[in-house]
Amino acid sequence: MTIDVNAIRQDFPILQTKVYDRPLIYLDNAATTQKPKCVVEKIAENYYKENANVHRGVHFLSQVATEAHEAAREEVRKFINARHSHEIIFTRGTTESINLVASSFGKLKLQPGDEVIVSQMEHHSNIVPWQLQPGVEVRPIPFAEDGTLMVEELEKLINEKTKIISVAHVSNTLGSVNPIKQIIGIAHAHNIPVLVDGAQGVPHSKVDVQELDADFYAFSGHKIYGPTGIGVLYGKEEWLNQLPPYQGGGDMIDRVTFAKTTYADLPFKFEAGTPDFIGSTVLAEALRYVQQVGIENIAAYEAELLQYATAQLKEIPGLRIYGESAHKSSVISFLVDGIHPYDMGTILDKLGIAVRTGHHCAQPVMDAFGVEGMVRASFAVYNTREEVDQLVAGVKRVVKLFHRQ
Ligand code: ALA
Repeated sequence: MTIDVNAIRQDFPILQTKVYDRPLIYLDNAATTQKPKCVVEKIAENYYKENANVHRGVHFLSQVATEAHEAAREEVRKFINARHSHEIIFTRGTTESINLVASSFGKLKLQPGDEVIVSQMEHHSNIVPWQLQPGVEVRPIPFAEDGTLMVEELEKLINEKTKIISVAHVSNTLGSVNPIKQIIGIAHAHNIPVLVDGAQGVPHSKVDVQELDADFYAFSGHKIYGPTGIGVLYGKEEWLNQLPPYQGGGDMIDRVTFAKTTYADLPFKFEAGTPDFIGSTVLAEALRYVQQVGIENIAAYEAELLQYATAQLKEIPGLRIYGESAHKSSVISFLVDGIHPYDMGTILDKLGIAVRTGHHCAQPVMDAFGVEGMVRASFAVYNTREEVDQLVAGVKRVVKLFHRQ
């Protein structure tokens, strides 16, 4: 075992919380992860010691803040192995990153009648931004009954109207790890760029954007032990140079007159207004934490937890797991016959167990299975086998309660 989970748990004070007098069992990590002490402390340290607006001042503190913000960009670059740090755009999160590309790529390349290919397992944030582009049709790559993406269908969906493919690295509901390298290879053979929604990918696996040859890759800070409100859009320099700005304001300009405005170079062209320079440096701290634990160690440990939990949950009569792809991340969505997901979630909550219930912002996935919602347990590096045992015992208790007649 390369993970000392008890030591790791010491880094996350919130895990000592009691809910309804029971120890908190936090299994809603795909929604947001908890934060280690170093991340929380970095927020205070930044405000106490380095708070000044970036890129604007000649004064000492502004320069300190600017250097820290740009060092954070470099930290992100290294983390995903981008070629240049100016290919890293700070955004509010994955959703804003995708909206940025949809809007700017849309202005440059999308005409009414054009098509964008996504997958049937997308989060709404990788469907709706494309639907907002006038007259554009969004076409899904289907998934099989076990939640595996049917990549073999991709070639059939591609035609001369296909302008971009935008797919999740990992499904937030089914946990399926999609073969994005293969998808990118197919797309590039047709000269079609690919955006990868990496919100659920980056926290659980090593991502190398150059190796993948992704044109765009988006992720959020808060799902990788970092702060809320900061995220990343990686874009290849060639693409980012071509795309028009997303928002206008300070920092993104070169020269402004009433007749004409010219724009700043990358990455600032896409960062209008005061950036979240506290968030960026705190995100960098979170990435350092992840690297210290080791992303491969995290992945291996979570895979073990997933296997352990899956085997036990499957023993429960009437319980169905949605998403059993051979390549799966640490997410288990399930339902038990005759038990509404909100009832399951509410009673588990009373036992101290935090799971997500509902459509998980992926209504097309719910539609595919003909259900309204699911219960989802999602694991992080600080979860334990004992917590899985508690989850299983909790689900059994709910089943007994509902099926006792
Ligand atoms: N996208 C987040 C989730 O899957 C909120 O829960």
